[in-house]
Amino acid sequence: MLEVSGIDVFRGETQVLWEISIRVHLGERVAILGSNGAGKSTFLAAVTGVLPPRRGDILFKGESLVGMKPHQITQLGVAVVPEGRRVYREMTVAENLEMGAYPKRGRAQLKKTMEHVMCIFPVLAGRSRQPAGTLSGGEQQMLAIGRALMSRPELLLIDELSLGLAPLITKEIFRTLDNLADEITILLVEQNVEQALRHSKRAYILESGRLTRSGISSELMEDDDIRRAYLGL
Ligand SMILES: Nc1ncnc2c1ncn2[C@@H]1O[C@H](COP(=O)(O)OP(=O)(O)OP(=O)(O)O)[C@@H](O)[C@H]1O
Ligand SMILES: [Mg+2]
Repeated sequence: MLEVSGIDVFRGETQVLWEISIRVHLGERVAILGSNGAGKSTFLAAVTGVLPPRRGDILFKGESLVGMKPHQITQLGVAVVPEGRRVYREMTVAENLEMGAYPKRGRAQLKKTMEHVMCIFPVLAGRSRQPAGTLSGGEQQMLAIGRALMSRPELLLIDELSLGLAPLITKEIFRTLDNLADEITILLVEQNVEQALRHSKRAYILESGRLTRSGISSELMEDDDIRRAYLGL
């Protein structure tokens, strides 16, 4: 579904990513793991058209995304949950969700989609008239995911789902996403290596802008080098 081949990405004149190749198949859960500054958010910026790669290609369902504007990429069915969630704090929960339906592909069945999102995250239904800024961190993350789902994406990109959240809430949100396996493909980037490996099928390790490892998540979890470097064991 997503086929990234050999991309080099720069921020200004500084190269941040080198020859990154990643594949995500339909229905899969794939994680990109790496510590602070490894280039995870930059990778998502490349896929979403914010920071087009200087070399290499990004295919989504066989079509190249390179050169497309972010809104065109959203329109094709790629949505992102940004790092730090960035909900509109002054707006209500329902208004935040409506904003997510702004891309044309979300507008057609807005009401139905919103009901579906509230079904996935029931806590949002109870808080729909409340300003988003009054929600807890975990609820805001659910809202940010819900907002992304409002465009009815086929591929959901999630930047640091676990950031700043209590382990229990992180687990709950991951479990909810596991249950959506039939409807959506997910690529997540995470510093929380343990949770990300637990809730993905395959994973790639990004270090200082280069992919150093990749494999089946359950196997990586048993790997001594990974356990030492990322799991503190
Ligand atoms: N706006 C920017 N301008 C210049 N350099 C940047 C910018 N944003 C990030 N960088 C640099 O690019 C590199 C990769 O950053 P990036 O944000 O992609 O990492 P990350 O893996 O998402 O890190 P984190 O886990 O902290 O979110 C870092 O060296 C960072 O300093
Ligand atoms: Mg980041």
